[in-house]
Amino acid sequence: MQAIQISPNVYWVGAIDWNLRDFHGYATHRGTTYNAYLILADKPTLVDTVKKEFYPQMLERIQSVLDPKKIEIIISNHAEMDHSGALSQAVADFSPSQVYASVMGVKNLVAQLHPSFEIKPVKTGDKIDLGSDTLSFVEARMLHWPDSMLAYLEKENILFTNDVFGMHLATSKLFDDENDESIWLEEARKYYANIILPYSDIVTRFLGQVQQMGLTPQLIAPDHGFIWRKDPFKIVELYAQFAAQKPTDKAVIVYDTMWGSTEKMACALADGLRQNGTEVKQLSMHVCHRSDVITELLGAGALLVGTPVLNSNIFPAMADVLCYIKGLKPKNLIGAAFGSYGWNGAPVDSLTKLLEEMGVEIVSPAVKSLFVPDEAKLQECENLGKLVSQKLKEKIS
Ligand code: FEO
Repeated sequence: MQAIQISPNVYWVGAIDWNLRDFHGYATHRGTTYNAYLILADKPTLVDTVKKEFYPQMLERIQSVLDPKKIEIIISNHAEMDHSGALSQAVADFSPSQVYASVMGVKNLVAQLHPSFEIKPVKTGDKIDLGSDTLSFVEARMLHWPDSMLAYLEKENILFTNDVFGMHLATSKLFDDENDESIWLEEARKYYANIILPYSDIVTRFLGQVQQMGLTPQLIAPDHGFIWRKDPFKIVELYAQFAAQKPTDKAVIVYDTMWGSTEKMACALADGLRQNGTEVKQLSMHVCHRSDVITELLGAGALLVGTPVLNSNIFPAMADVLCYIKGLKPKNLIGAAFGSYGWNGAPVDSLTKLLEEMGVEIVSPAVKSLFVPDEAKLQECENLGKLVSQKLKEKIS
């Protein structure tokens, strides 16, 4: 396996995980990459490693351009295992003179790897002299872990951003301009929604901080997906847009159903929204994945949730998706609940409470149907759709 040159003295030496379909609960329909970068400076430096099982792939790529024992420095920009899993093996095999991470990175790497080697902390503004070039660091706490950090290679003008600005996309094409924009827009959006979303306020502040630093990198090199070279700031602008979470005239209906009653209600609700001109996504948790639901919610304006009642509780698939959505803290949503029950309708009302806990502005009490909804009940659902649409239009106008 060969390293791929991305600038005069920098090579991509990462790995492609073509068949990954589940990244700790995030459905990665198109696989992913674990990007690592080798800087052939006077002091050869490796920026990040890969997931443990992909170490042989990274090693082979490094060997195609350099004897790995010549690597003097390893930078760990993020402690999560998809980037640090191969660190201990790399240190054992390469014997670098220094391993660096952020202050929180040292703490988290020690707790995860229990290393027998020293990891030196660096903080924002610190620089490491590589001889023929210089690496400087920008801590990016909570983007998306406390240890997250960016590294900037000054002469070659490359910003190594780890998870930030990346996406889960397995591709043999290493640069933005070689990849299909319709695909990467979808995957960049999905990555933000599933990984970065809860930290949107931090993203906004961080983008301002980076702008103040006056960095204008020629390449933005994240650790997942491809490298941004044609228009590195396109993804920065997209992040600013994602972080704002400006609501649009779009509603997402998330539900599950036992015998079709809650689904009938969802369909009537969707019809009411459509009649009033609001875009609708109607997602049954019987077939949809939680990570696709949150992706649809990014930039939507309304969340409507429906459940049947099972064992005096909400349906398990709804508990799953609502727990996931709550953790990702989407903002600026209005919403309501609906659902069918047999003899205890309280669990449907509990969905309203869950929405409130998530910060969703409730536009109506839950619409509940005793068993199968009749025409009057379906009309009630349709009317709720129209009401949500009207409130949404007022909100975004
Ligand atoms: Fe790609 Fe947070 O790890």
